[in-house]
Amino acid sequence: MTEPILRVQNLSITYTVGAGVFQAVSDVSLDIYPRRVVGIVGETGCGKSTLAQAIPRLMPEPPASIGSGQIFFRGTDLVKVPKSKMPMVRGTGIGMIFQEPLNSLNPAYRVFDQIVEAIQIRHFREMGLVKSFQGGEVPFDYSKRPTTTVSSALTRSVLPDGVVEEKVKDRIRTRSDYRKEVLEYLRLVRINDPETIIDLFPHELSGGMRQRIMIAMALSEKPQLLIADEPTSALDVTIQAQVLTLMKDLIDEVDAAILFISHDLGVIAETADEVGVMYAGRIIEYGPVDEVFRSPRHPYTKMLLAAAPRIYKSDGSLRSIPGNVPNLSRPPPGCRFHPRCPIARPVCKVDPPPLAPVTSSGPDTRAGAHRSACYFPEEVPGLP
Ligand SMILES: Nc1ncnc2c1ncn2[C@@H]1O[C@H](COP(=O)(O)OP(=O)(O)O)[C@@H](O)[C@H]1O
Ligand code: SF4
Ligand SMILES: [Mg+2]
Repeated sequence: MTEPILRVQNLSITYTVGAGVFQAVSDVSLDIYPRRVVGIVGETGCGKSTLAQAIPRLMPEPPASIGSGQIFFRGTDLVKVPKSKMPMVRGTGIGMIFQEPLNSLNPAYRVFDQIVEAIQIRHFREMGLVKSFQGGEVPFDYSKRPTTTVSSALTRSVLPDGVVEEKVKDRIRTRSDYRKEVLEYLRLVRINDPETIIDLFPHELSGGMRQRIMIAMALSEKPQLLIADEPTSALDVTIQAQVLTLMKDLIDEVDAAILFISHDLGVIAETADEVGVMYAGRIIEYGPVDEVFRSPRHPYTKMLLAAAPRIYKSDGSLRSIPGNVPNLSRPPPGCRFHPRCPIARPVCKVDPPPLAPVTSSGPDTRAGAHRSACYFPEEVPGLP
């Protein structure tokens, strides 16, 4: 069977701040296979962004720290990779689209320079000049900006043995080649007047435009794993749909996988093949998106769907989930949902329920099979 591109195992992350130690991500396991889109959904504060940032190790350490677990990206445990080597992993394999584009665009670079760097990294990788991050090969030093012009590339040798081969010479681009390609990506993300925008700085752009620039950057690098954290929240609906299509094109082109994070069940239903529902730092239900949304097997998922305006609902009523999301510095013992759960029993307050297969025809252990972290999943369909 194909190996997963990403395998997260029993990952726990805490934030240590003045107010205490917050367990933002607790014992999360997740496999993402090539050509799959895995959605993560959950209320604000449940740990989605922390999980997303932990994979390429971009969360602030400190206050964040990885308490336990592994993050295997194409077989290498990123938890063990020194932070100084992480830019190489990010540059060649993991692309990110963040919730807040201003934090991830460099204010000192024009749009052209922001995007061209991603394109150059990819070209160099395609030419074999950047060692891809597999099985401990020699790392490419991402901190030095790659050469951009034919003359500088030819005089400052970049091949490991110091020889620029004919086939490589043919593929070295000029600045105007790069400009053309950057313009193509700007058109792809529907930037009006790309010829003007390409020379502007981030602060001269609107929020929606910055979001599109960041999406263009991430897509132009053609990462094997694209992590998108609420990527479309600053975009209007038509642009959202176009961006989702562009992401799926990436899958077809480079066999990529996508981790797609959103609090919007509708966007997840449209985008993802599989979905993980997070509650208070844990994944409490996982499975094929249609199955999970049509017949949830965790009370929280069922209540979340009943509270959502559009999706998979026939009776038109909307309910709120009683109670509050727990304080992650003092999460309830056992099942973290028990204070709000209508079918909680004493056993629920003792040990956290494991994320176990729930198919009615017997346990299904396939990757991506429907699983729930509830002691009584068979009672969920009967809940109002
Ligand atoms: N930089 C930070 N410092 C301290 N605590 C944080 C920080 N970022 C997030 N947290 C805590 O981690 C929890 C999860 O946050 P986050 O991952 O941003 O959730 P989500 O993306 O689902 O809204 C929150 O309860 C929040 O209090
Ligand atoms: S384990 Fe218990 S408290 Fe938790 S969701 Fe299931 S029934 Fe409710
Ligand atoms: Mg978030």
